Amino acid sequence: MTPHTTKTVRKAVVPAAGLGTRFLPATKATPKEMLPVVDKPAIQYVVEEASAAGLDDVLMVTGRHKRAIEDHFDQASELERALEAKGDLARLDAVRSASALARIHHIRQGDPLGLGHAVLCARSHVGDEPFAVLLGDDLIDERETLLKDMLDVRTRHGGSVIALMEVDPAQIHLYGCAAVAPGEQDGVVRVTGLVEKPAADAAPSNYAVIGRYVLDPQVFDVLERTEPGRGGEIQLTDAIEELAAKGEVRGVVFRGRRYDTGDKADYLRTVVRLACDRPDLGPEFRTWLKEFVSTLDLDLDLNPEGGRFAA
Ligand code: G1P
Repeated sequence: MTPHTTKTVRKAVVPAAGLGTRFLPATKATPKEMLPVVDKPAIQYVVEEASAAGLDDVLMVTGRHKRAIEDHFDQASELERALEAKGDLARLDAVRSASALARIHHIRQGDPLGLGHAVLCARSHVGDEPFAVLLGDDLIDERETLLKDMLDVRTRHGGSVIALMEVDPAQIHLYGCAAVAPGEQDGVVRVTGLVEKPAADAAPSNYAVIGRYVLDPQVFDVLERTEPGRGGEIQLTDAIEELAAKGEVRGVVFRGRRYDTGDKADYLRTVVRLACDRPDLGPEFRTWLKEFVSTLDLDLDLNPEGGRFAA
């Protein structure tokens, strides 16, 4: 084992400075990370995932109008006292759980210059340690072990590790895309190149980068000199590409349950899927959903042009 692999990963960085324009007007005054997925804000699932993988220090990289995120992960003494007085222990537990997940820190990105820039803002907090980056638009089912698997690969081999998922080639333009070669273990590939959101005909593969990374701290030096790339933004993908060219990046191929909350349709699908899976809500909700879907078929037969409420 090389010396740099002996440092344990303890810190997670969660970029949360995006403007959330796809969800306007809901995100006019509420950060998109705070949109509820069933009954928890999306970002809480991400922090729970980090915490479950043993990361006990989480840095949120936020922007303006993100106070609600800070408040959510803080203690809410007044609310807690009121619930305690009522003896409502279940809700008290729910309120407390967010602040008990990890030590949560916040830093502001200032100018939103891109994902790479957001990660670079974490440099002084992270220091010279390997760290994880979790993007909030991708939710990974709590029954999966993706992040733990990535941390294991880092411990074994050092370097940086990214999560990859095979997607329909027609979708690859929405993701970072990896050129890969066989790795030393099952489900792990060597990443030989990376390109941010390539056109389908220019993509080196259909391996999409999904929003989980375990990065060696040398990525910060690279990010310091990474020029704006696709969309005029400083891209994390471009910095990792430089590490990949040196043979220092591996990919864990994920085939499990991932939920996208990046746009409205994906978000709705995620809420429905997670609601179906919830032991407290699922049984009743599934029964309703089945009935509802059968009425949808009826609507479509009667009115192929319109939605449910079309005249
Ligand atoms: C970001 C990354 C991209 C990655 C994606 C995963 O893009 O830049 O490489 O594939 O997250 O969700 P965004 O979706 O923020 O545009």
